[in-house]
Amino acid sequence: MAGGSGTRLWPLSRAGFPKQFLALSGEATLFQQAVERLMGLEADDIAVSQPVIVGNAEHRFMVREQLLEIDVDPLIMLEPSARNTAPAMTLAALQASAGHADPVLVVSPSDQTIGDEDAFTEALQLAVRTAATGAFVILGVTPDRPETGYGYIRSNAKEGGVASVAQFVEKPDAATAARYLAEGHYTWNSGMFVVKASVWLAALEAFRPDILKATRASWEARKENERFIRPSRAEFEHVPSESVDYAVLERCPGSAFDIRMVPLNAAWNDLGAWDAVWMASERDARGNAAHGDVMMVDSDNTLVHATSRLVGVVGLQDVIVVETPDAVLVTDRSRSQEVKKIVAKLGERG
Ligand code: GDD
Ligand code: MG
Repeated sequence: MAGGSGTRLWPLSRAGFPKQFLALSGEATLFQQAVERLMGLEADDIAVSQPVIVGNAEHRFMVREQLLEIDVDPLIMLEPSARNTAPAMTLAALQASAGHADPVLVVSPSDQTIGDEDAFTEALQLAVRTAATGAFVILGVTPDRPETGYGYIRSNAKEGGVASVAQFVEKPDAATAARYLAEGHYTWNSGMFVVKASVWLAALEAFRPDILKATRASWEARKENERFIRPSRAEFEHVPSESVDYAVLERCPGSAFDIRMVPLNAAWNDLGAWDAVWMASERDARGNAAHGDVMMVDSDNTLVHATSRLVGVVGLQDVIVVETPDAVLVTDRSRSQEVKKIVAKLGERG
């Protein structure tokens, strides 16, 4: 899934160039890292087929170029407009089912970093084996703060490294997140979903038949050439915008669908907002991270990201400063989720 807009990382991430296509950690872009990581899931009992990328039509050349750089040749499906992840996952499920009899889908975001690739591979392989039995598998990360930008999974005791899921809550408010953290039985949703195509389509049919119907109509009226698969724009206009988390995951526990959690202890990080970038960055003894040409005096727990000029700061605590040639962001670190409000205002301004 590579069609997100990454608005919380403004001004580095822009509508035409969202964060997944940036090299925010390491040399490869987040998107390239995600693709390469998934190609490594092959095992004696697991064959990895040609990957399916679902992205926004506006980004098609960036997607293709970045894939050529890493020598991967996937199917590329282009959404005419952004409708969030439930339709994107459905397009992939329909396309993959056309080529294989009921494949297990490993659905991944393209905006995360993984520190321990071996642990990642091991957890995902367990998830694939579990999904092959008909379960809907999500990957849980041990939380270390009351983050409000994630989904929270309450799971039961594990058996063979896999737990059944008792409750799923997408993006709780700060007080609820703090309570979940204190209670202890919760993990964060990593945003990866492992499930047979037929199980996903049945769950969507059960909970959001409107999304399935409209997405299927768009896929059936698709156009293809040797480079891209294009679901019909006219039909896609009618697809409701909803995430996998709200459309299906929140409704699975307690239903006929067998939803399970496999722990992912792989130094996972979602670079969703600037706070997470600070967290994932190398920091000095006072907790400061400096990217680019930066001078910091008497500051603590502050991130300064400079792209085109020298940036100097004095006496800052828990602040994020991001400099780009045409826009500068300064925000309190605890409020970096709200950067998307600036992007919304920019949209209104036109
Ligand atoms: N193709 C396509 N089309 N991809 C999309 C679209 C879309 O319309 N919208 C988002 N994506 C991609 C993003 O690029 C990203 O890689 C992934 O789907 C997830 O979308 P986000 O918008 O980043 O979701 P989130 O971070 O707010 O929340 C999700 O991930 C969290 C962990 O990172 C949820 O699954 C949470 O529950 C989870 O904790
Ligand atoms: Mg995200």
